[in-house]
Amino acid sequence: MKPTVAFGLASFLASRGLATDLLTPEKIETDVTTEELQRNLWNFNYIADRNGGNRAFGLPGYKASVDYVLERLQRPDFHKFTSWVQPFNHTFNQVRSISVTGPDGEDVEVVALIYNPGTPLPDGITAPLIDTPVDDERGSGCFEDQWEGIDATGRIALVKRGACAIADKLRLAKTHGALAVILYNNAEGRPIQATLGAESIGQVVPVGTIRIEVGEAWKERLAADEEVVVNLTVDAVFEERETWNVFAETKEGDPDNVVMLGAHLDSVQAGPGVNDDGSGSSALLEIATAFRRYDGLRNRVRFAWWGAEESGLVGSLHYTSNLSPDEADRVRFYFNYDMIGSPYPVFAVYEGDNPADSFGARRLHDHLTSHGYPAYYGAFGTSSDYVGFLELGIPSSGLFTGAGAPAAPCYHLACDTTENIDADALTANARAAGVVAAQLALDSLEGLPRRADATVNLRHRSRIGRQFDRWRRAAEFAAVEKSCSAHGEKVRTV
Ligand SMILES: *[C@@H]1O[C@H](CO)[C@@H](O)[C@H](O)[C@H]1NC(C)=O
Ligand SMILES: *[C@@H]1O[C@H](CO)[C@@H](O)[C@H](O)[C@H]1NC(C)=O
Ligand SMILES: [Zn+2]
Repeated sequence: MKPTVAFGLASFLASRGLATDLLTPEKIETDVTTEELQRNLWNFNYIADRNGGNRAFGLPGYKASVDYVLERLQRPDFHKFTSWVQPFNHTFNQVRSISVTGPDGEDVEVVALIYNPGTPLPDGITAPLIDTPVDDERGSGCFEDQWEGIDATGRIALVKRGACAIADKLRLAKTHGALAVILYNNAEGRPIQATLGAESIGQVVPVGTIRIEVGEAWKERLAADEEVVVNLTVDAVFEERETWNVFAETKEGDPDNVVMLGAHLDSVQAGPGVNDDGSGSSALLEIATAFRRYDGLRNRVRFAWWGAEESGLVGSLHYTSNLSPDEADRVRFYFNYDMIGSPYPVFAVYEGDNPADSFGARRLHDHLTSHGYPAYYGAFGTSSDYVGFLELGIPSSGLFTGAGAPAAPCYHLACDTTENIDADALTANARAAGVVAAQLALDSLEGLPRRADATVNLRHRSRIGRQFDRWRRAAEFAAVEKSCSAHGEKVRTV
């Protein structure tokens, strides 16, 4: 019944020359198209191409991505929306070059980590290796007792990857006197890339990651009492940079009942981030573009394009930790859309411990399955922008099509381009996200409990507050390092 009534009213008003067209989930579904979703992806890829191959925090490709989204949101046809940016600062790091020269003068394939400390330049660190031979079920170099009897003073520690955070291995290496660490892989394949987190600044030694074959060969030579001298040279920049979250919100709808959708707008430095997370950013743009035409919203809908997600969920944590308890209470549901167009997609629908999550999760799941997609419920992890919302006790869900092989082998790599997308999955997920946003925008929300009480908020604020304190200390340390860095070489900005 309802759609017919709504349609009748809309056409009546339209015939009177009033541009009133009432929102329905079906209209949003029709308005979100593969062509426009892909056009955004093409543009994100182009932005990366023109800006050094990425759209990462602190670099020009991110600024251009923000401009791209704002240009759309500030067009005259978005007059039913308000949009704004939220600036914040974070420690930026970029490794401009890294090299490892082996004991026979050979050039070794090496990868730097994010927040990798630099070495002195131009000489680097040249020192004999020392092995960390204990390798048990708790990993290698992860615990104090695994370093017992190892005096790494003046040496470069050879450590195997796995089992614990790399930053923990590097902290222990530092306390045992090591000048640097060579981290070898625990499986075949290219040396790994990972982040040490800004909070590690000042606590860890420079590191280079290498292949398992090379690491094991050097380990054997050390076991035979050979001296193995290597050179690690890392040219790294650290500095505070400004970045932004971008928001758009419908003017219509009850401001005390806000439905939020979020996707991160930054990529890693290694690539253009078309699937991660151009896919979610594009979906939000198209859903907002669809919403801009319609009236009759009962609840407000707020879209967020997060900054610096790849540096540790920094933008979304900045936002959630600065919400007052009242502002947090008004957010009735949060949907996270990060990697929703993987080339060999799974169709995960997030659902957590909060029974209220199913209010949104069930709708996403049912929409996808009714269109023939094999949706299933999956637990939240700790690695996307839902974290701050979960900690506030806000009911949450979202979609995810998988990261890493086999779902998305180009995850965090230069090949995360427009080729790295399943357009059908992206369209299905963007439509599901749009339909469910419209359903919640029109709903009484009577069956949806408000977020868990203010103690959650306090806990969140103190935990996130501690995280921001760590980042602040790291930033201060980085600023001091910078002023006396790199043998007088001026730190260039990029
Ligand atoms: C970021 O840092 C710059 C320079 O230190 C400062 O001028 C600016 O106000 C800071 N921005 C924010 C949002 O804190
Ligand atoms: C270490 O390697 C760097 C980069 O290849 C080189 O410039 C430097 O001279 C080397 N240091 C020593 C002591 O060989
Ligand atoms: Zn992502």
